[in-house]
This record gives sequence, C-alpha cells and structure tokens, in this order.
Amino acid sequence: MHHATITVDPAFVVGPVRRQTFGSFVEHMGRCVYTGIYEPDHPTAVAGGFRGDVLELTRELGVSTIRYPGGNFVSSYRWEDGVGPQETRPVRLSLAWHSMEPNTVGVDEFMAWCRLAGIEPMLAVNLGTRGLEEALDLLEYCNFPGGTELSERRRANGSDEPHNVRLWCLGNEMDGPWQTGHKTAHEYGRLAAETARAMRQLDPDLKLVACGSSSSTMETFAAWENAVLTEAYDVVDMISAHAYYCPWGGDMASFLASAVNMDYFIDSVVATADSVRAALKRTKRINISFDEWNVWYMEDMAAPTGSDWPFAPVLIEDRYSVADAVVVGSLLISLLRHTDRVEAASLAQLVNVIAPIMTEPGGRAWRQTIFHPFALTSRYAAGDVLRPAVQSSVVATQQFGDIPAVDAVATLAPGRTKSAPKQVALFLVNRSLEEEAAVRVSFKAIPGLHLTEAVTYAHDDPNWKASADDADTVLPQPNQTASLADGVLKLTLPPVSWSMVRLG
Ligand code: AHR
Repeated sequence: MHHATITVDPAFVVGPVRRQTFGSFVEHMGRCVYTGIYEPDHPTAVAGGFRGDVLELTRELGVSTIRYPGGNFVSSYRWEDGVGPQETRPVRLSLAWHSMEPNTVGVDEFMAWCRLAGIEPMLAVNLGTRGLEEALDLLEYCNFPGGTELSERRRANGSDEPHNVRLWCLGNEMDGPWQTGHKTAHEYGRLAAETARAMRQLDPDLKLVACGSSSSTMETFAAWENAVLTEAYDVVDMISAHAYYCPWGGDMASFLASAVNMDYFIDSVVATADSVRAALKRTKRINISFDEWNVWYMEDMAAPTGSDWPFAPVLIEDRYSVADAVVVGSLLISLLRHTDRVEAASLAQLVNVIAPIMTEPGGRAWRQTIFHPFALTSRYAAGDVLRPAVQSSVVATQQFGDIPAVDAVATLAPGRTKSAPKQVALFLVNRSLEEEAAVRVSFKAIPGLHLTEAVTYAHDDPNWKASADDADTVLPQPNQTASLADGVLKLTLPPVSWSMVRLG
C-alpha cells in the first residue's frame, strides 16, 4: 500500500484555470475531418453536413478551442482550395499523409462547425511551402469586415460577418525533418518574425504562436526555442510544445510517469524563453501553447505509400485503454499546475485520429477511455489553480528513477454569490501498477467544506478498451472510500487510477 499526504492551501495560487487549456485539434488527416466531424450522408447530419452525434460528444467533452487544419498537413496546404463553391474545389495531394484531399471542407466550413460546437478556432498558416503573403491573405479573408477583394470573397462565399480568429499558429513543427518545407531555427525564426509583424499590421490584437520543438527529445530542443525567440520575441505571444507518450518497449511504469517528462518539457521551455527575455532585456513573458499532446502508440503507424493515395484512410486510430486514460488525466494535472505559463493546449486530435471520440462511417460514435478524465477536468476545474503540497511514497521507473506514486492538483473557485460556498476540485492519480494508495488531504486552510462528489476511473484490467459495442462497461465510478472529517479528506486510490474529488 502506498501512502500520500496532501495539503491544499488557498495561499498557493499558481494562476487562473484557463479555458484554452482544454483545446483539441482537427487535422485533415485520416478520418478526422471526413467521416469524423463531416459526413453529409450520416443519419445525424445537420445543416452544413456535420455529424450531429460528433457535435454532441464534442460539447460533452468540454473542448474550448480547436487547432486547424494541421499538423503536418498544413505545411503544403493552399487555403484558397477550400473556399468557394464546393463542386469547383480542386482535389490535391496531401503530402504529409500520402492521401487525397478533396477540399470539401475548408476554412468557412470549419468556422461554421466551430459555431455549432461553441468552440473558439485556432488557425495554423502554412510556413512550409508558402509564406508571409498567403498568411496575410488568409488573415484578411477571415478577419477583415469587407470592402477588399479577399473580405468580399468571404462574404460572397456566405460568411457575411468576419470570422474574427484571434489565435494563430505560425506553421507547424518546422523543426522536424519530416515537415514539408522544414527549416533551420534561424530560417524559421526570421520567417516567423516577419510573418507575425505583417499579420499584426493587419490585426494588432492577435495571439500568435511560434513553433517550438516537436518533442523534448529533438536534438535541437532548447537551442531551437532560443534561436526562434531571439528573432521573434517581440512579435509573438507563445511558443508551441508537442509531446506524445506510449509505453515504449512495454515499460508501463515509465509510461504512467509520462507527466514527469511533460513537467520537464514545460519547465525547460519556460527557462529558455526567460533566458531570451533576460538577454533581450524585455519585461514581457512568452507563454507556452502545448498544442499537440496525447498518448500515441507510434509503433502501429501505417501510412499509405507508393501509388496508393487514398481518400480519408484509417490512420493512427489508436484504441485507448484505462491505463492510457490515467496517463491523459495525469498530463492534464501537469498542464494545470503550469497554468502560470501554459496559456493554451490542444489534445491531439479530436475524432478518430488518436482521439477521444471515435466514429463508424455511416454508423455509431462513441467515447474512448481518454474522453472521461478530459471531460471531467474540463467541466470542474474552475477559478484558480492551487499547487498542493504532495508527500507520497515512490514507485521506481526506468526512465525517471523514483517518482511519487500519487500526483495531484487542485482548483478553487469562489461561490456564485458572496455567501455561497467555495468550490474545490482535486484531481489525483495513483501511478503504481500494483498497489493501492491511502491518501489524506488536509483542507483545514479552507474551512467549512463538504464532500460533494468523489469519482475514480480504474479497472481490474487496466488494458480494458472501449469499443462501439461496449463503450460504457468502465466509466468513472463513485469512490466509496472517500470521507471528510475535521477538514481532512481520506480516500483510497486503486492502482493505475485517475480520480476527481469535489468539495463545496
Ligand atoms: O497529430 C498527428 C501529427 O503529429 C501532426 O500532424 C504533427 O504535427 C505531429 O507530428
């Protein structure tokens, strides 16, 4: 049995819970768009050809922002192909995914879908095969009210009001040799800076994200961030980070501790950005957009090759286990505890492609295991993020050495009225493969709390996976061991589990 003692104190505020932490990602890749969000012949299809069942699950997931249209796809994308009458749009090759892109869905359809889903868009511009001018054109098409060729083109295409997109990514993973139009840090830094400067001439209040590293294991990691920010510091707001985790070689203990790597990644990017700040003698701080993160079993990746250029092929449709969901929950804990510097994040991706939502073409849609910790954290994390003091017995891992078995973060929101009770949400994981954890949490510094709800997501078989036939056998369940007395919460966490406790 593991033991953990946690103290939650309202004095230890990290920063606000940011809605943009709960973003996701829709790429023209595999079946994310076609038969994912868009399927005009589907029985649930709504106006515009969007799947109604996916829209409903997207709302339930609690997604705040969606990054679009890629990913690697964006680096050879011509946005103009995706606007205007659908029947005249050209079919193109998607170089990134060796697929056929019919362009039936483009920026106007995506904006219409965002409105239906109640989501804020985050657009990426192509800095691989294209550059500053095309980025400016897309910005003008989207955000300028009218009276210019591009803004009138948007209006003629049915979007009278500007899309008013605030969040923009300046390319995607430009550090990666696999990226179409891959660049050195210096080349990219210059291009990102010039593109950002020009975009601000058109619309000064944009939030702009420069590409950081595709992984903290890239050889250029940190040197890349340093060089890019040295060029672009004054004209960008955030630098991106991407990370995907899986149990390499079956090493489950290290996999469950993936948040240790995410903590390291975030802390290192913050340190690098702040060192550029010091070198440039600036006061402004650059934050992080963690705009691709998830569990991804890259071992199973099978992309089309040769003369095979299929339309919407099955690509990286990973089926997630309960253990994977625990890792996703623990990565959310890491993102929240860095809310002072992580300004936005996107679970990659939303539908079918390494996704919390799965669909059958023409058929059912269902929730994967990773859906549950994301949806509950998004729904109940509110107010300020508090850093709890966690003392826990440790588990041994090959990659990270001894790590605390229990990890946690808390949020504290004021009541709706002055006299209404404060709302606390505590998110916890037990990363031990075999042992339960007995946890005591002191809330003595927040008097008058009552236990509202304690739920745990776990299963005797952590390898259990949801399917279209059975998505509901394993759901978050009330944790019957939870009790609160004299400001101290006691509960037991099963091995390989994610939990949420709410107090009010
Ligand atoms: O999310 C899948 C791919 O992973 C994205 O297209 C790319 O940016 C990353 O390498």
